[in-house]
Amino acid sequence: MRKQNSKSLASMKFFLRTFGCQMNENDSERIAGILTAKGAKMSNSSADSDLIIINTCAVREKSEEKLYSYLGRLAPLKKSKKVVVGVVGCVAQLSRSEIIERTPFVDFIIGPDNYSQLADIVLNSQEEKIVSTSWSKDFHEFPSEMTLRESDVSAYVTIMEGCNNFCSYCIVPFTRGREKFRTKEKILQEVQSLADNGYLEVQLLGQNVNSYTDPETGKDFSFLLREVSRVDGIEWIRFITSHPKNFHRNIAQAMQESEKACRQLHLPVQSGSTSVLKRMNRGYSREEYLEKIIILRQLMPDISLSTDVIVGYPGETEDEFQDTLSLLAEVRFTNIFSFRYSPRPQTAASREKDSIPFDEKKRRLIQVQDLQKKIQVEFNRSLIGRTMKVLCLGKSKKDPAVYAGRNQGYQVVNFRAQKDVRGQFAEVRITSSGPYSLIGEAV
Ligand code: SAH
Ligand code: SF4
Ligand code: F3S
Repeated sequence: MRKQNSKSLASMKFFLRTFGCQMNENDSERIAGILTAKGAKMSNSSADSDLIIINTCAVREKSEEKLYSYLGRLAPLKKSKKVVVGVVGCVAQLSRSEIIERTPFVDFIIGPDNYSQLADIVLNSQEEKIVSTSWSKDFHEFPSEMTLRESDVSAYVTIMEGCNNFCSYCIVPFTRGREKFRTKEKILQEVQSLADNGYLEVQLLGQNVNSYTDPETGKDFSFLLREVSRVDGIEWIRFITSHPKNFHRNIAQAMQESEKACRQLHLPVQSGSTSVLKRMNRGYSREEYLEKIIILRQLMPDISLSTDVIVGYPGETEDEFQDTLSLLAEVRFTNIFSFRYSPRPQTAASREKDSIPFDEKKRRLIQVQDLQKKIQVEFNRSLIGRTMKVLCLGKSKKDPAVYAGRNQGYQVVNFRAQKDVRGQFAEVRITSSGPYSLIGEAV
């Protein structure tokens, strides 16, 4: 029996804090949708909420620490009023009841495979603590029309969950489980309904999107991309994340043939050294990676490429590190995300000695970032004077007189316009640039 003082969802205000990647962002949009459908109201302040949910990331030690420092900040609030606190996402899946042992005021823990039980768990956790982290074998289909999206222009569409790659440093296979694919039919239904609701861009999401295989027809990612391109109303299509091992010529060809596939690809390389890549269990060499870049640029000369880089992997020598720098100089990415290696529990690399001292990892990271900054400054400067199509996503956070959007290459463009172009495409002439964004005027 539920006690008298337990609140129904319809009378609750909830606050959602999201850490981590686009998969988590999309999951939070789904969580918000589930709660809103039950009558709960979303709030942008934790202080006036009855329910606080923290969607967590475990990919690096620092990401995990964010959960505990956030919980620390919630402690006084939890003491002063009745508020339900739940931890969901990747740290929830990984640490389960350990989170409650460490922070006893947490009321529930839900792993990424169990969000469909969220509403019941919120209610019942007012009586007793609940930990729900079981795995399901198949893709957990969800009523996507419930998703409460952040943007009304560009939408995330999850096409697969999990990862089978077990890169030696990476915790994701332990937090998200094995690969599971959503049916092409369900994906297309969601994309169609987004188009009907005025969305112009979709981003297909998964930890390893290019391994996509439709569970019903066995068709691959290139087929899916062609099908999504047929949906009228959707103008731009992106997908993330591609693993170089699963990115083949047929996908580059499907991109080239589609007028909607953005001329942009995020292709995480991690290291420029074949020996490090081997130790990372990445399944490709430096040369094979560079070969894929050549194919992409042959087919789409204006393609914008970005990547992820890890420095200080166990045993990374100075020469191996130099190989990463030379790869960055050779490819000249539009953007990179670079990280210091962080040992993660359960991973193969965590059984090796984390041999590079912190200061040395820091030095390598700074060197990577300095080089990349120089490349971006030069590249972005070369775009001054060009006119390009920009999807306006809203106003700039810094200056409400300025619009903000992204070009095909996924670069941030801040620009002025005579009329309100929010939610629309604009032709923007670039007038100046910095390392991380472009500035222009709508023409
Ligand atoms: N599925 C994607 C993203 C994985 S996580 C992929 O295959 O690329 C995002 C990035 O975090 C990775 O690309 C990697 O660069 C970085 N990363 C993952 N584990 C890490 C670790 N233990 N230490 C430092 N960086 C890590
Ligand atoms: Fe992690 Fe590798 Fe899977 Fe990416 S492909 S999620 S880096 S194990
Ligand atoms: Fe982090 Fe989980 Fe994404 S570990 S990067 S939130 S899949």
